[in-house]
Amino acid sequence: MAVSFTKAIVVGGSSGIGAEMAKQLAREGAAVAVLARREHELAELAKASDGRIRSYVHDAANVDEVPALFERIVADLGGLDTLVYAAGVLPRVEEGEYDFQKDRAMVLVNLLGAMAWMNPAAARFEAAGAGTIVGISSVAGERGRRGSPAYCTTKAALSVYLESLRNRCTRYGVNVVTIKPGYVDTAMTRGMKGLFWLISAEEAAAQSLKLARKGTSASGFVPARWSAVALALKLIPSIVFRRLSV
Ligand SMILES: NC(=O)c1ccc[n+]([C@@H]2O[C@H](COP(=O)([O-])OP(=O)(O)OC[C@H]3O[C@@H](n4cnc5c(N)ncnc54)[C@H](OP(=O)(O)O)[C@@H]3O)[C@@H](O)[C@H]2O)c1
Repeated sequence: MAVSFTKAIVVGGSSGIGAEMAKQLAREGAAVAVLARREHELAELAKASDGRIRSYVHDAANVDEVPALFERIVADLGGLDTLVYAAGVLPRVEEGEYDFQKDRAMVLVNLLGAMAWMNPAAARFEAAGAGTIVGISSVAGERGRRGSPAYCTTKAALSVYLESLRNRCTRYGVNVVTIKPGYVDTAMTRGMKGLFWLISAEEAAAQSLKLARKGTSASGFVPARWSAVALALKLIPSIVFRRLSV
């Protein structure tokens, strides 16, 4: 059954896919709480939203502040039926660079932050027998690439975490949706070479919300044609894959 979103939290909503999802949710009539570190970008979003978007400055790496902030936002919105976790970082990792600080930042924001927000949402939605959790993972989680070990790891882990959550919560009426975008034209991909099938953040957000709106727990590639790439990537033997420059 198709669902509509009326009260939503978007973590990682100051730019790119998350910001577009927040805007589109607000345009549909939802009350939306957007969270990220950049106060100015958040304030601009809120200003242009006719009062539908509220902003909260939050660093997703500060996982300990999530339980109280979650409750505060739910009270501010007067309830909650949708959580979108779009926050993510992909720092450039040079050939021969092994930087644990970068790895830790990716694990904190891309994975632990997601778990910190999805846990209270899942508990609340399970008790209510309804609600939607959307996690923005990536095609990058399908294989371990030489160029971005920690990023691929966080996205693979996020995809598996979301699958587990889906298998756990769907029976209680909760939809858990994994979005695996290919290349999207955002700050994250700016200056990268060799991108193909690049789509806008607006398009990625629209396709993600379309999938989530179906109201059936699902995992999907955005755009869908990336499923063929993912399948091909999975089929490449490891000994061949390590010679490729992806
Ligand atoms: N672009 C692509 O090709 C692509 C492909 C597959 C998946 N994705 C995923 O899509 C998601 C959105 O990325 P994007 O492409 O839209 O890039 P983006 O424009 O750089 O957006 C990243 C968002 O994450 C937020 N963020 C980063 N660190 C944060 C932190 N410590 N605490 C809270 N928020 C934080 C940023 O806000 P602040 O900087 O203001 O904190 C921003 O709102 C990410 O999870 C990314 O991995 C992107």
